[in-house]
Amino acid sequence: DIPVVHNVAEMRAFVRARRAAGERIGLVPTMGALHAGHLSLVEEARRHAERVIATVFVNPTQFAPGEDFSRYPRTLAADCEKLASVAADLVFAPAVEEMYPPGFCTTVALEGPAKADLEDRFRPTHFLGVATVVAKLLNQAQADVAVFGEKDYQQLLVIETMARDLDIPTQILAGPTLRDPDGLAMSSRNVYLSAEERARAPALNRAIVTAARRIAEGEVIGHVMGEAREEIVGAGFEIHYVEARHAGTLARIARRHEGPIRILAAARLGATRLLDNVAVPA
Ligand code: PAJ
Repeated sequence: DIPVVHNVAEMRAFVRARRAAGERIGLVPTMGALHAGHLSLVEEARRHAERVIATVFVNPTQFAPGEDFSRYPRTLAADCEKLASVAADLVFAPAVEEMYPPGFCTTVALEGPAKADLEDRFRPTHFLGVATVVAKLLNQAQADVAVFGEKDYQQLLVIETMARDLDIPTQILAGPTLRDPDGLAMSSRNVYLSAEERARAPALNRAIVTAARRIAEGEVIGHVMGEAREEIVGAGFEIHYVEARHAGTLARIARRHEGPIRILAAARLGATRLLDNVAVPA
């Protein structure tokens, strides 16, 4: 059984004790409804730290009105069993009032990768909520390392940039995207897909993997991305964006030699919004 704490003070007491024993601390922030992708981040944290804390908090401030905050899957008991199976050491599962007590009024202002006309175009307040809660979690835990997934690539860049700019001493590490065997990126939101949608869902990954290979082979980016969009629409998606961007800055990119390229995609399949991204091989 894995210990679960609900208060910042209890988590800090754990960290203090482990530190005093000379151990390094790793942090893996999540919103729960855990899958193998989340657990792979725990394993990555364990490679850099003797003790790993997973946080489970469905952060209301990163959801806009009308998004899925109230119906987001909440499965703390099952999450704790999964975290125990990968030998995480502590679960921090605060209540909303612990994170946002009365009078809470400070947020983190963002530019740069948070204003890339990608996720921010469709969820204009999302990264404000993410960055603020992640700043709080990093300050609360004072971990040596914290691990985030490439699955949410723009989020990863926003967090790396924030930690650098605000001199947060925790080292930010990235973990690769875990996928189902057919290529669909694992996501807590995949449970929203009907059987028929689940069967069509891998088309998103297939299209961007093909586009990445063709760009690596020297084909014209604009042409390749146009065909990728057609393929994704043909599979029944409503595209939010499917774009080739600079992997470090998310700046628009027209030619392959302008820098390392990441292809980022978001599209709706029925009521479910799917995200994916892949690197263009160098
Ligand atoms: P959540 O969606 O629960 O994801 C928690 C972490 O798991 C994130 O770093 C995310 O990128 C990573 N992740 C998700 N799917 C993955 C996959 N298939 N393979 C590898 N890693 C994956 O992202 C959030 O929560 C929140 O925004 C959070 C950072 C916790 C702030 O509230």
